[in-house]
Amino acid sequence: MTQTSSTQADQSTAWQALEQHAKLISTQHMRQLFAADPERFDKYHLQHNDILLDYSKNIIDDNTLQLLDQLAEHAGLAGWIEAFFNGEKINHTEGRAVLHTALRDRSPESQTADNPIYQQIRAEHARMRHISEQLRKQHWLGANQQAITDVVNIGIGGSDLGPNMVVEALRPYTADTPRLHFVSNVDENHIYDTLRGLSPATTLFIVSSKTFGTLETLLNAKTARKWLLQELGDNDQLQQHFLAITANPEAAIKFGIPTENILQFWDWVGGRYSLWSAIGLPIAIAIGMDRYEQLLQGAYEMDLHFRHAPLRDNMPVVMALLGIWYGNFFAARSHAILPYDEHMKSFPAYLQQADMESNGKSVDRAGHKVNYHTGPVIFGEVGIRGQHAFYQLLHQGTQLIPADFLVAMENKKANTRHHQALVANVFAQTEALMRGRTAQEAHDEMQKQGMSEQQIAALVPYRSFDGNKPTNTLLYKTTDPKTLGALIALYEHKIFVQGVIWNINSFDQWGVELGKQLANCIIDELKDDRPASQHDASTNALINHYKQHHAEK
Ligand code: F6P
Repeated sequence: MTQTSSTQADQSTAWQALEQHAKLISTQHMRQLFAADPERFDKYHLQHNDILLDYSKNIIDDNTLQLLDQLAEHAGLAGWIEAFFNGEKINHTEGRAVLHTALRDRSPESQTADNPIYQQIRAEHARMRHISEQLRKQHWLGANQQAITDVVNIGIGGSDLGPNMVVEALRPYTADTPRLHFVSNVDENHIYDTLRGLSPATTLFIVSSKTFGTLETLLNAKTARKWLLQELGDNDQLQQHFLAITANPEAAIKFGIPTENILQFWDWVGGRYSLWSAIGLPIAIAIGMDRYEQLLQGAYEMDLHFRHAPLRDNMPVVMALLGIWYGNFFAARSHAILPYDEHMKSFPAYLQQADMESNGKSVDRAGHKVNYHTGPVIFGEVGIRGQHAFYQLLHQGTQLIPADFLVAMENKKANTRHHQALVANVFAQTEALMRGRTAQEAHDEMQKQGMSEQQIAALVPYRSFDGNKPTNTLLYKTTDPKTLGALIALYEHKIFVQGVIWNINSFDQWGVELGKQLANCIIDELKDDRPASQHDASTNALINHYKQHHAEK
């Protein structure tokens, strides 16, 4: 499976049949599809543990699913799944295996296997347990023998978004101490806003960086060190205020972090898939290692489901194929992620990296430009707030935007009135997006309100809408660690399946390199007195405008 393939996804007969089928099914409205088949929900929903996926509100019928299955078979999906779990080097542009699933492998064999990968994983997870327990029990002492009360994770991208999102999502399970903070932005406001009110003697920094070479992270780490030094002086115990999590321990040692404070992960863990590794330490500190292991368990059970369930019963596969259906056959260019859960507010941002950094690719595995669309723009917001912001465009805009609604059936506080209002909105939105409102319905409603026929006629075009907007609903018992683990793994695998169908490598990210390289050059130019002249006219002018502003100050 590691060999490159020159098959363009759109050359298959299934793809061409789907193009024809899309034209046909577009002549029907989902209202008609529901009316024609009372079994529609029964047929088009899946259950995995506590998670129900209702995908019946999609523009599909049995034929659509059959053709989509054929597309997956044509791409050799089953073989790719095995190659992925077996640790083949499917990240061919970096020559790496993709083994984040090994990090959450809870099988009895993995807990005892003497395979070096499992040994390393067990060792680092044991260190996470030890460190998180020391911090939670307030046994980790900083300078002046004071216990740590605040932990600041410094990292960006995968070294921030995953742990940050999970700590927030599982807030009802988090301990009061130590408090967790996340600093990612190189804009100094982020670190200084975070440090305001914290005491150096009781603050621990975790420098999380796979490469330990990311400029913004290292700059923030240096600022943190300066802040500690200012207050604590060159204290012997200053080193106790830093932990590093990295796949490049040499660089962390060079930075001044002692070996015993460095946790490791490895090149076979992609940054955006790393919350299952030591990068998850802030999670373990926040919720305890036992609960962190429940997160792993949930993901592991989703892995088993993904690896073994037939295509049609396979939740990540079904969600992936539906995404392809709209992206490649209905010209959908974006996909909305709409969690109805305040604590899940960072889930859309987390998935933006997971999905867009993975599938924002335009070259296939054989090095050829693809001639079809790949990854969509992922965006989203907590449901209710989104409703009052951008849902208008979902309902009546000119673009088709498939959406995933996520909601738990209970929350820990169990205030029924709040929760029912929340859930009612989920069900109402997906129904409204599917049904729309016909001109007749809009007319009748206005008539009931006592409006004149003249007023009604003028308003009907604005107050009726097409509907037929596809949604998935993920309804689960509660947002506990295990379910959250399963949801994250569900989306990870959905992304992988789409990458397989598009014949792209979902595990590299060369596209972000160029900007990083240029920024490093421009930083030097900003320090230099001479005007910039190496760039295009726009970039030169912007650099020089900035320099002039500072020269005049
Ligand atoms: O944004 C690009 C990227 O390389 C991500 O893939 C990664 O998660 C992030 O930068 C941070 O990288 P590191 O963990 O090496 O600091």
